[in-house]
Amino acid sequence: MSSQRDLFEIPDDVCYLNCAYISPLLKSTVMAGTQGLERKSRPWEIRPTDFFSTAKEVRKLAAGLFGATPDDIAIVPSASYGLATAARNLPVKSGQHIVVLAEQYPSNFYIWERVAQESGATIRTVPRPLDGDWTSKILEALDANTAIAALPQCHWSDGTLVNLKLVRQRLDVLGGALVLDLTQSLGAMTFDLDQVRPDFAVAAAYKWLLGPYSTGLLYVDPRHHRGEPLELPIFSRENAEVFSDIRYRTEFAHGACRYDVGEVANFALLPALLSALTQISKWGVATVEAALAQRTERIAHGADLLGLDVTDSRYRAPHFVGIRFPGGPRPALAEQLRAENVYVGLRGDALRVTPHLYNTEQDLTRFSEVLRDSL
Ligand SMILES: Cc1ncc(COP(=O)(O)O)c(C=O)c1O
Repeated sequence: MSSQRDLFEIPDDVCYLNCAYISPLLKSTVMAGTQGLERKSRPWEIRPTDFFSTAKEVRKLAAGLFGATPDDIAIVPSASYGLATAARNLPVKSGQHIVVLAEQYPSNFYIWERVAQESGATIRTVPRPLDGDWTSKILEALDANTAIAALPQCHWSDGTLVNLKLVRQRLDVLGGALVLDLTQSLGAMTFDLDQVRPDFAVAAAYKWLLGPYSTGLLYVDPRHHRGEPLELPIFSRENAEVFSDIRYRTEFAHGACRYDVGEVANFALLPALLSALTQISKWGVATVEAALAQRTERIAHGADLLGLDVTDSRYRAPHFVGIRFPGGPRPALAEQLRAENVYVGLRGDALRVTPHLYNTEQDLTRFSEVLRDSL
């Protein structure tokens, strides 16, 4: 797929290769958000059904990304909110453990640390594999005392992959729950729900879903649809759209919407999220994935030619390149590149390079040249 840069407002001289940090918004998304914000200048035009209609569309498109049904989707403000929802609904007993990766993103660690403290369980941390093969190490860490494996599809710091299908198969035998943080993959990598079958899977939308900050999607397996939400907002109840009826409702509306954040209708952010998901669905995630894989392949090849250490392509997510340096970490490098208007991330000892469809051929060439000159 050719560059989609025209859909974004990115100056020609900016080489932005840091989607894993924050994606830029599409022009259409900025417009949808602006119109959404302006809508509240005219509250007389807002009808009770408007509190539900955009959320319904978002659920439909989100379901397509997860391979789920709209009923399985809750709308949340962050990954940590979705993970806290999962933690509230999964039993953990003293003597059991929760499996996480070394240096996993804090939103998918702190909550489990608290669960462990409160339940008498422990955290079992899978050490970082030297060759990038997390899956073998995860499988070794799982046993009959695994209450939950709380994992990503790829590590946020360098994009090393986890084979979730194999993890699921092992958990099926052992009886453990699977909670996923897909913030660094949903929208850029296909997700096979039938094979992976997580109990809960969340994605903050401001990276690979191209959404605004403070929006996110939570998939909930149907077996948890009748669980305990973190909040008890009005809009998660049966017949909530009948504003004239002021009686309390005892029943939740059907499906995962009971886990929605309060004020889910968010008139500024939700239309913006809907616009971003609409564009991603139009492209198709498989197409995005293939296009990003071509870009990262070029970046990885360039780094390889410079004698730098790039993760083995068998264990590398299609939208990430983690580059390490033979002489050890180069803490000043990201700032050095920034001075050249080239933007990448530095996470741990890896230079994290994460392109998207707005990147052009020139961006990729420029990155390789600037990297070469900085060494
Ligand atoms: C793997 C991962 N999960 C989650 C987040 C964001 O978490 P939250 O929405 O809780 O701030 C990030 C942000 O960098 C991330 O990399």
